[in-house]
Amino acid sequence: MLRDSDVLSLLMRRKPAHSLAQPFYGDPGVFQVDMEKIWYREWLFTIAACEIPKPGDYVVHEVGAYSVVIVRGNDREIRAFHNSCRHRGSVLCKTRKGRHPKLVCPYHQWTYELDGKLLWARDMGPDFDPSKHGLKPVHCRNLAGLVYICLADAAPDFDRFAETVTPYLAVHDLENAKVAHQSTIIENGNWKLVWENNRECYHCAGNHPSLCRTYPEDPTISGVAADGKFPDIVEKHFNRLEAAGAPSRFKLDPGGQFRVARMPLLEGAQSYTMDGKLAVAKRLGRVGADQAGTLLMFHYPTTWNHFLGDHSITFRVTPRGPLETEVQTTWLVNKDAVEGQDYDLKRLTEVWEHTNDEDREVVENNQRGILSPAYEPGPYSRSHEDGVIQFSDWYAETMIRAITGTVAGPVGGQARVAAE
Ligand code: FES
Ligand SMILES: [Fe+2]
Repeated sequence: MLRDSDVLSLLMRRKPAHSLAQPFYGDPGVFQVDMEKIWYREWLFTIAACEIPKPGDYVVHEVGAYSVVIVRGNDREIRAFHNSCRHRGSVLCKTRKGRHPKLVCPYHQWTYELDGKLLWARDMGPDFDPSKHGLKPVHCRNLAGLVYICLADAAPDFDRFAETVTPYLAVHDLENAKVAHQSTIIENGNWKLVWENNRECYHCAGNHPSLCRTYPEDPTISGVAADGKFPDIVEKHFNRLEAAGAPSRFKLDPGGQFRVARMPLLEGAQSYTMDGKLAVAKRLGRVGADQAGTLLMFHYPTTWNHFLGDHSITFRVTPRGPLETEVQTTWLVNKDAVEGQDYDLKRLTEVWEHTNDEDREVVENNQRGILSPAYEPGPYSRSHEDGVIQFSDWYAETMIRAITGTVAGPVGGQARVAAE
């Protein structure tokens, strides 16, 4: 099984602007290093805060060996705890989501407050100190209605990301959303293939007939030129939306971990529907213009998003094994929107239901081909796939830094937006 040092030497020898060597897409040792160096260290998107609207509402999220309970307290704050009892370690919450007034362990009924404090433990003797047996907290931040956690003891900086993207997200009013629909699919492919596929639209014309009705796959429209300039149509879109009060201009994290930009859809398209018209009559948010395009935001390694003028869609990536990745998609609408009246669920979800399934298929085909002994890293297209180059540079730099213990430097350079 490959270890840290093997991964490091493979990364040092990687061919720039080429897909990675075969072990990165399925070797169990590399997968373990990925989990330890990235997934157990970086901030991870989990749920929209509106998924747990009331005190006691919780969601359990599993990442590798960890199980985490994300719960809303009586003070309405959202907190995260390791889902492991401080008595003998049983899981506390057995179901994926629910509502409990207190967190009660199913084994011997140790009972915790929603803020993690141990309230009650039967017959533990006079020397037992409940204050030393509260639930172990997990770093947790609510970013404009999107809940992120970090499993590391010392979490990396979150503020730079939060400060950059909060003004972009604020106009989408995600705290006043509700979940209209959620889909959870398993793609039989390594998590990096899921990301590589997401970061380009080279495959869109050949695979996404529904998405291509509204999403411009042409990188000369949705992209950034090598000199960092935008095509006229995009400049005009930024200016029009910013004048209407919706921050829009492209921002890429100097560290390459996140990007935010409000990009135009095809001429005349207002939302991701088959006819391009709005999907929800009672809009979510206050983007003050029609044809608002889509606010694209990604944050590695867990999430890409589309925030539209009428609804928002979040995507969450979770590795389940070297060859298996869960993708959860959540459609958010105004909490007062009524299904059947303000929106039709099929109309709202069909474009991305189709697109997700088409993406699953291309990722699985990609994975199967990579597992062949004949596979060798191939070149990315500079005009269509520099988002993929940016992702794989971020991955390689992040892994190298984590393995060697060196400090972050800028990676990623000029990356196109051309991606989903
Ligand atoms: S393991 Fe939780 S109460 Fe015993
Ligand atoms: Fe796709």
